[in-house]
Formats: sequence, structure tokens, C-alpha cells
Amino acid sequence: HSADAFRTDLMTITRFVLNEQSKHPESRGDFSILLSHIVLGCKFVCSAVNKAGLAKLIGLAGETNVQGEEQKKLDVLSNEVFVKALISSGRTCILVSEEDEDATFVEPSKRGKYSVVFDPLDGSSNIDCGVSIGTIFGIYALKDYNEPTIEDVLQPGKNMVAAGYCMYGSSCTLVLSTGSGVNGFTLDPSLGEFILTHPDIKIPKKGNIYSVNEGNAKNWDSPTATYVEKCKFPKDGSSPKSLRYIGSMVADVHRTLLYGGIFLYPADKKSPNGKLRVLYEVFPMSFLMEQAGGQAFTGKERALDLIPTKLHERSPIFLGSYDDVEEIKTLYAAQA
Ligand code: AHG
Ligand code: MN
Ligand code: MN
Ligand code: MN
Repeated sequence: HSADAFRTDLMTITRFVLNEQSKHPESRGDFSILLSHIVLGCKFVCSAVNKAGLAKLIGLAGETNVQGEEQKKLDVLSNEVFVKALISSGRTCILVSEEDEDATFVEPSKRGKYSVVFDPLDGSSNIDCGVSIGTIFGIYALKDYNEPTIEDVLQPGKNMVAAGYCMYGSSCTLVLSTGSGVNGFTLDPSLGEFILTHPDIKIPKKGNIYSVNEGNAKNWDSPTATYVEKCKFPKDGSSPKSLRYIGSMVADVHRTLLYGGIFLYPADKKSPNGKLRVLYEVFPMSFLMEQAGGQAFTGKERALDLIPTKLHERSPIFLGSYDDVEEIKTLYAAQA
């Protein structure tokens, strides 16, 4: 009976979010409408990524972004798709994208109460070789959105009302939290629907995988160097951890969320604030990790407590299984 019920009782992401909405009687469905437009963007990018090689969508767009990175064609395409989808939802007022130097202020007639920060295509260096990439987003609700200003998005990550990512890998998986746990949905291309496949994701309390770009080891500070050394040569007789590093944050975080372990993008002498961007990489992933029972630390503080002062500000980040991050916190506290 239960198998049949499962097959016919399709829990789509739309239905899931409407169920969530019913817990907030005062809500007018704005969030559900916003999310449906983000889902539309993800479906489009998934289809473009899957056809990239065929549709001449790989390679450079011939521009560079505010990060000083050469933009790939898919970076630019994905950004345009999300900006247009979010504006057309009529539920947003400020948009911040990795690919746009300045925030987009939605024209008054189309304005809504949410501001969305997003990385339209994460892991761009992996596009041309077909390795998993993704989209990352975070959502803030604005109390007063009549005269939105940049201050309205320079909020700590703990103020986000939702965060998520979509990974374009062997399957297209959307992982979302609206503040009460984390759920994963897999796109069924035959239906064009995201179906609930990973209900109530909880990250293992401790893992045996560490994920870092060892190529930066020469420039690490001592707490990071000590921690990584401990992963490789444990002193307590336990077996060394495995190293897994894909180079797309979405893929490395997704594996960490499901298998446990720790993901590190530390500061180093060359980049004292690390590489990952606070608003649309660090905050959404930290939000998800905490909602799944893990934690996220910057080397100085809880990642979600950070108050950004600039749109594209960077921060070191250590996130993943609760106990693994706790070890890194102890090492940084000892150094402080
Ligand atoms: P993006 O492609 O959106 O610019 O992000 C790339 C980021 C992130 O996806 C990944 O964790 C990190 O860059 C990898 O950096 P390194 O190549 O320096 O390890
Ligand atoms: Mn980039
Ligand atoms: Mn990114
Ligand atoms: Mn990106």
C-alpha cells in the first residue's frame, strides 16, 4: 500500500511550499510565488547546462565581472535568466548577483517585499569539463520596501527567511530551507517537476571527509594548517580522513551535507578574507548547515552573525558536521 501511495502521492516542491505556507495563515502566498520563479530559473539553467556543449554555450563570454573573473557564457546567461525571473515574480525589491557589480532595484510597479542574493552559476571553472555546478540563493524579507536602500541587503545571514541551492549534476537537485529544516528535491525531467527525494536532511554529527584546496597550503594560517595536518596524521590513533574537493562549492557542500565532514575555504596570506562571497555563497550555505544540525564558522565568529558592509565582501568559511567545525573553532580560539 505505502509504495503505491508514494508513487501516486507526488510531493512536488510547489505543494511542499504551499504546505509550509498553510502554517502561516497570515501569508498571502508571496513566498510561494517567489519560489516558483526561482524554480523556473533553475529548470532553465539545468536545461542549458545539460545542452551546454551542444549549444555552443561553453567558453568565455569575453567580459569580466566585478570579481575580476572572466565571465563564461553560462555565467551571463544564468544571471540574465534569474534577474528576469525574479523581477517578473513581482515579489522582489532588491537583487544582488555575483555577476552584477551593483544591486538591481526593482521598479516600483513590480516591487515586492523580498530581496534575493544569488550566485547564478557557482563553480564556473568546472563548466567546460562537465563537472557539477550550481546556483545558490538567499532570501531576506524587507519590513518596509517603499524606498529600498543597499542597507536593506547588508544584513547578517541569520536574518534570512530562506536559502537554498540547485546542483546541476548527474541529476538536478534543489536543496531548500525556509527556516524549519532542510529538504531536497530532484527534478523529474519527464514531469518538469521537482519531487521531494531527501526529506528533513540532517548532517552527520561527525564525518571522515575534509574538503579544501590543498594547493593553498603554503599560505594558510596556523590553526588551518594544524587542523588539516590532524586530518592527515591523526594523533589519537584514529584513521586519517579522506580528502574530497570538487572545486564547485555547491557540489562540495551537497556532499558534506549528505555524507558529513567539513568544507573549508580558509583565509590565506594572499587573500586574508578567503575567496567565498558572504552574501550569496557563505550565508546561504551556512544557513542550510545550521538548519541541518551542522555549523558554520568564519575563523572569528558564527558565519550567520557576520554583518556585511559591501555587496561582494568575502569571508573565510569552515562549515559542516557539528563536531568537526567545533575542532576548528577550538584551534582558532587558542590562537586568539
Ligand atoms: P564561482 O564559480 O561562482 O565564482 O564560485 C567558485 C568558487 C566555489 O564554487 C568554489 O568552492 C571555489 O570557487 C573554488 O575555489 P578554488 O578554485 O580557489 O579552490
Ligand atoms: Mn565567479
Ligand atoms: Mn560561486
Ligand atoms: Mn558564480
